[in-house]
Amino acid sequence: MRRVCSRPSGAASSGATTNVATKDLRDWIALLEREGELVRVGAEVDPDLEVTEIVDRTVKAGGPALLFERPKGAKHPLLINQFGSERRMCLAFGVENLDDVARKVSDVLEMQPPSGLMDKVRGLQKLKSIADSLPETVRRGPVHDVVLHGDDVDLSLLPVQRCWPGDPAPFITLPAVITRDPRDGVRNVGMYRMQVIDKRSTFMHWQLHKDGRADWLATDGRIPVAVAIGLDPITAYSASAPLPKHIDELMLAGFLRGAPVELVKGVTVDLEVPAHAEIVLEGYIDKDEALGDEGPFGDHTGYYTAAEPFPVFHVTAMTMRNDAIYPSIVVGKPPQEDAWLGKATERIFLPAIRATVPEIVDYDLPVAGAFHNCCIVSIRKAFPGHAHKVMHAIWGLGMLSLTKCIVVVDAHVDVHDYEQVLFYAGANVDPARDVVLARGPLDHLDHAPEHQFIGGKLGIDATAKLPEEGARPWPEEIAMSEEVRALVDERWAEYGIPPVDARSASRIR
Ligand SMILES: Cc1cc2nc3c(=O)[nH]c(=O)nc-3n(C[C@H](O)[C@H](O)[C@H](O)COP(=O)(O)O)c2cc1C
Repeated sequence: MRRVCSRPSGAASSGATTNVATKDLRDWIALLEREGELVRVGAEVDPDLEVTEIVDRTVKAGGPALLFERPKGAKHPLLINQFGSERRMCLAFGVENLDDVARKVSDVLEMQPPSGLMDKVRGLQKLKSIADSLPETVRRGPVHDVVLHGDDVDLSLLPVQRCWPGDPAPFITLPAVITRDPRDGVRNVGMYRMQVIDKRSTFMHWQLHKDGRADWLATDGRIPVAVAIGLDPITAYSASAPLPKHIDELMLAGFLRGAPVELVKGVTVDLEVPAHAEIVLEGYIDKDEALGDEGPFGDHTGYYTAAEPFPVFHVTAMTMRNDAIYPSIVVGKPPQEDAWLGKATERIFLPAIRATVPEIVDYDLPVAGAFHNCCIVSIRKAFPGHAHKVMHAIWGLGMLSLTKCIVVVDAHVDVHDYEQVLFYAGANVDPARDVVLARGPLDHLDHAPEHQFIGGKLGIDATAKLPEEGARPWPEEIAMSEEVRALVDERWAEYGIPPVDARSASRIR
């Protein structure tokens, strides 16, 4: 990702450091407003479909975050499109470029034994930044300003959206769902949509490969669940981050924020919840209760995912800040707002991927590929079959294992420039030799395979081929000499030809 966002005025940002720590959603809204990135909508607007149509047009036009102050039929305002542009994503992280966030992660992952005093000091600072990332328990938080128990719990107070015409009900789409693994007590925070059933219950859509689901399956009887809605943007993002099961997403949030997430004890569940959340739903899911039919839902695949059995979440308490603000997100045919949450994950996880597969230079998950459908990866090729090795490594790597199609290119190819990638995928590929067909796990929501969860994988080796790979002598790529390029740069004005962008004039190089 080569683009650079303009620097947020309120946020400290210098190169690789990220230290914004908007304290909560309100702080974030204030920052968006100062930066001209938020529009307040005073007109009454219906969360039933109307908001979707407005936000779909706004996102696709690169428009602002929207705060609907009078959602029809609800007591609370609705924030949407907070993440819907690269600039706002950079504002959220307090960086000029999402790669700066990745650098902060790679600084820690690539820590070496210190060789001198200054190295030791730097190492200690890095270790301190990890230690300071752990969530902090506080005695009280504004999330408990309003506490509704039992019959007073009423999800219809919230402007929960019904997003698309084929959705059977409203869905809470931006929740951070908190559970604990009963075996080791490790917390999990995941973003799983929740279809509203009635004023005190919802479905919980944790898919087959997800950690929240694993916690539920490992629990006998009732698993306590807390759902935080309306968080600072980094903590909200962290709920969607595909971390290994034993790593607490709130620690990642603290590390990326440069300040720990403050937690308070739940009022009816033995879980801690973010003290500055706008809304928390506390409750339980009972493994002995029959599953219900969740969906269909207009999904990020661009299609309705079919109704399927999922467990029911019962709300025992609804706690809120005074005048709580409810955030939402619409997914659908890409690009939508979630594209930028996905791009943040793509960038932030590059160092971790490189730590496992160091020959990887860069990768790109095209937004139109709905994240799991396509991955373009560039490698420093060193031996015959290397591209195939990398394909199989990716098919064995966390949530990337669900990737359906992988295109491997050489190190000098810009994976974010799809025209360049297509050039090499066309020029360097003999389909009889360079296409790998494999079989493996697929995304829960993928409707294309014959069987749900499992099916075909496609790998395309678009690297230059070595003799051992069955190639004839590989031709040299055309490129103008640097001397002539410099000469023409220097003389351009003299030719009297209007200026051209030299980079775009020679993009495939
Ligand atoms: C807007 C949005 C909605 C999502 N909805 C779901 C969902 O309904 N079910 C699901 O399993 N994953 C969903 N995801 C993906 C998960 O949040 C993601 O895979 C996360 O890593 C899951 O956490 P876990 O690995 O701790 O289970 C969604 C992601 C985003 C950004």
